Order: sequence, then C-alpha cells, then structure tokens
Amino acid sequence: MTHLLHLDASARPNSLSRALGAEFATAWRAAEPDGAYTYRDLAAEPTPFIDAGWTELCDAVLAAGHTDLDELADLAVTPAQRAALTIVEPLLAQVLAADVILIGTPMYNYSIPAALKAWLDQITFPRMSLGHRRFVVVTARGGAYSPGAPKAAFDYQERYLRDFFAGHFAVTDTVFVNAELANAVHDPALAHLREAHESSLATARAEIRVLAEDYAR
Ligand SMILES: Cc1cc2nc3c(=O)[nH]c(=O)nc-3n(C[C@H](O)[C@H](O)[C@H](O)COP(=O)(O)O)c2cc1C
Repeated sequence: MTHLLHLDASARPNSLSRALGAEFATAWRAAEPDGAYTYRDLAAEPTPFIDAGWTELCDAVLAAGHTDLDELADLAVTPAQRAALTIVEPLLAQVLAADVILIGTPMYNYSIPAALKAWLDQITFPRMSLGHRRFVVVTARGGAYSPGAPKAAFDYQERYLRDFFAGHFAVTDTVFVNAELANAVHDPALAHLREAHESSLATARAEIRVLAEDYAR
C-alpha cells in the first residue's frame, strides 16, 4: 500500500500553497483509493526547534555510526536525550512510513518558512537515507524566479530543498511545482503581472494533476 505524507507550512490559513498541495493530495487519493494518507500542518502545529537534548542525541547517533529508528531509544540515555526523542521519534516514523512526501510551502525571504526549517532540523540525523522516497514540493511565490527572470538567482527555496534532500537524504528525484507572481493578485502596482500569474497558476495546476496520478502508481 502506498503512503502519502502531506505537509503544509504556510502561516496563511487561506493560502495558495495549501490550495495547490490539497489539489495534489485530492488527485493522488482519487487515483490511489487504497493508499494511506497522513497530514500535518507545520504552521498550525509547529514542531519545536531542536534543543541541547536533540544535539546530544544527534552526537550519540553519530558515535553509534547509524540512524536506525528502532535503536534510537537505546541511544537516548540522558533525560534531555529522551525528551528530544519523544519529539523526533513520531516525526521520523511519519517520514519513514511514507512513499511520497508532499510539501506545500510559500517562499519566505527567498527561502522556506521557519516552520518547515524547524521540521527539517528535527528529522536531520547523520547517515539517514530516504533514497527510495519521492518528494514533491508545491510552492507559492510572490515574485518570479523561473529561468530567465531577473531574480532567478534569488531562488534559494528550490535550490536549498533540492540540494538538501539530495545531499543529506540521498533523494534525487524531488519535483518542484512553483506558482509564481502571487503578489500580483493583491498589489495594485503589480496589476500588469496578473495575467502572468494566472498563466503560472494554470501551468502549476496542470502539472499537479499529472504528477499526482503518476505518483499514485
Ligand atoms: C514573511 C514573508 C516573506 C516573503 N518573502 C518572499 C520572497 O522572498 N519572495 C517572494 O517572491 N515572495 C515572498 N513572499 C510572498 C509569498 O511568497 C506569497 O505571498 C505566497 O503566495 C505565499 O504563499 P501562501 O499563499 O501559500 O502563504 C513573502 C511573504 C511573507 C509573508
């Protein structure tokens, strides 16, 4: 049975990245009716920042030479390590149980929201491969960062996530769907870009439909 883990990271309840992530999840679940589905809202229920106990647990994992979820409990020996484990263990279990990990996220300050970074930090242990999992990242951005756009080089969101998943988790097929120029909807000074936003949105929605069916197989 295939398992979809769906995360949202936008601080805005009525958000574009949430809507697009929900479109993927709905299409995926329609195509995979027997699949398992787990949802977590990282903005409404934030994961705590890593703390001293987490770093001690990380050091213990490094010294042991492996990250095995079943053996993490044996490595957590101090009260601080055990407290960290109670946060980390369910987060890691959710990720390890999933085949497809869908992240809906806005671009904040050319990168990712702190809520998403806090989750990533929690699940970042040495020598942990998620290699056979597929990541789909659905983003909403106020501006445009596609190749050829004047600010293309400022896209630290896609580059960061792609490089991090590949470099740390050995995940090589992260797919990004980016809806751009969302600020044109609200900002009268950007009214001339509304059509370009609509076009970007339509392309994103079409990509999401195709991807969701593909990833359900
Ligand atoms: C704190 C904050 C920082 C932002 N930084 C950027 C940015 O660096 N580049 C950009 O294009 N848009 C930026 N935006 C605009 C959002 O990316 C845009 O509104 C997007 O649609 C938000 O997605 P959401 O509707 O899913 O929340 C920022 C918005 C906020 C609230």
